[in-house]
Amino acid sequence: MKILLTGGAGYIGSHVAAALMSSGHEIVCFDNLSNSDATVMDRLEAITDTAIPLVKGDIRDGDALRQVLNEYAVEAVIHFAGLKAVGESVAEPIKYYDNNVRGTLTLLEAMRDCGVKTLVFSSSATVYGEPQYLPLDENHPTSATNPYGRTKLMIEQMLADVAAADPEWRVAILRYFNPVGAHDSGLIGENPNGIPNNLMPFISRVAAGRLDELSVFGSDYDTPDGTGVRDYIHVVDLADGHVAALDAITRTDQALSTWNLGTGQGYSVLDMVEAFVRVNGVRIPYRIAPRRDGDVASCFASPERAERELGWKASRDLDAMCLSSWNFERLLAMRNAD
Ligand code: NAD
Ligand code: UD1
Repeated sequence: MKILLTGGAGYIGSHVAAALMSSGHEIVCFDNLSNSDATVMDRLEAITDTAIPLVKGDIRDGDALRQVLNEYAVEAVIHFAGLKAVGESVAEPIKYYDNNVRGTLTLLEAMRDCGVKTLVFSSSATVYGEPQYLPLDENHPTSATNPYGRTKLMIEQMLADVAAADPEWRVAILRYFNPVGAHDSGLIGENPNGIPNNLMPFISRVAAGRLDELSVFGSDYDTPDGTGVRDYIHVVDLADGHVAALDAITRTDQALSTWNLGTGQGYSVLDMVEAFVRVNGVRIPYRIAPRRDGDVASCFASPERAERELGWKASRDLDAMCLSSWNFERLLAMRNAD
């Protein structure tokens, strides 16, 4: 298929681009580069042996979207473009509603205008709010505790309405748990601007000596070692889940499908630190710090629906996640030194 990846130059989009290429799809990336840079396309070319077109543009620009949909005869869209920092969304909610909600609405209009009705959307486990039971399955009630989460919920609701109104749409909502790790090549991975909010990039930077120590946010949760438990999923497994979801919605007669992409396995913050130190032979100084506002004790998926309906299951373990994160971080340091 010919597939448009909004936000295709970002962390998850670039890994999905590589996975789609190796499954024989043709792709075009559309990104305003607000949280990525165009050099990722050169590294994707090194991985895939193919030059992937990148159109620099904003999803709030309907004309630019219509042009790329028509010019590349796009048949399906995978929609990653969005802002994702929870703290920033609390401080600047208008920016988040504008970028994520208005951006998605503009994309849906452009797709409708161009007759493209196949869409895979990047949602998040954040839509489950405070877990009422674990593991979280797709029927768990949804809620949000911050503007970022509310943008994901609003978009999910918009997609449900669109799919209900026109049965020709084929929409997949993918609820990601905690994507970590990097491509085996070490050429693409997660490289956030500024100080990372998320655990794995923070650990990598402490290991590299770019940050002094990790703050472990809370050690008095109701978990085996008192630190927060999450469902970390290797980004390459996550990427394969997109290929499987796209394949499934092109064959189903259902207009809307929702799948968790997680492993079903929870690890604590200290489990992550221990694994990273063990497999990479590095030091991660850390100290216990107060809980972070808005954090829950435990969050992990039931991946059963995806396994049953997509024939997809995450296969890479925690060691592979830690090895690939560190491999990416070291190659990044070498590239930056050049
Ligand atoms: P990312 O920031 O690396 O990638 C997002 C890309 O979208 C960036 O390249 C950015 O430049 C682009 N973008 C942002 N706003 C845009 C706009 N208005 N127009 C065009 N391009 C725009 O983030 P990611 O980690 O790859 O996340 C991708 C998607 O997955 C996001 O929607 C995010 O909310 C969702 N998600 C991510 C995680 C995670 O832990 N990384 C978890 C759950 C959901
Ligand atoms: C966070 C977001 C969530 C978003 C997801 C992916 C919050 C409250 N939630 O999820 O909405 O979908 O990222 O972008 O921000 N931790 C530390 N020290 C650190 C960083 C994290 O101890 O420096 C701990 C956290 O308390 C948590 C775990 O590590 O227990 C994972 O944190 P993080 O990587 O930020 O992911 P989430 O909080 O699950």
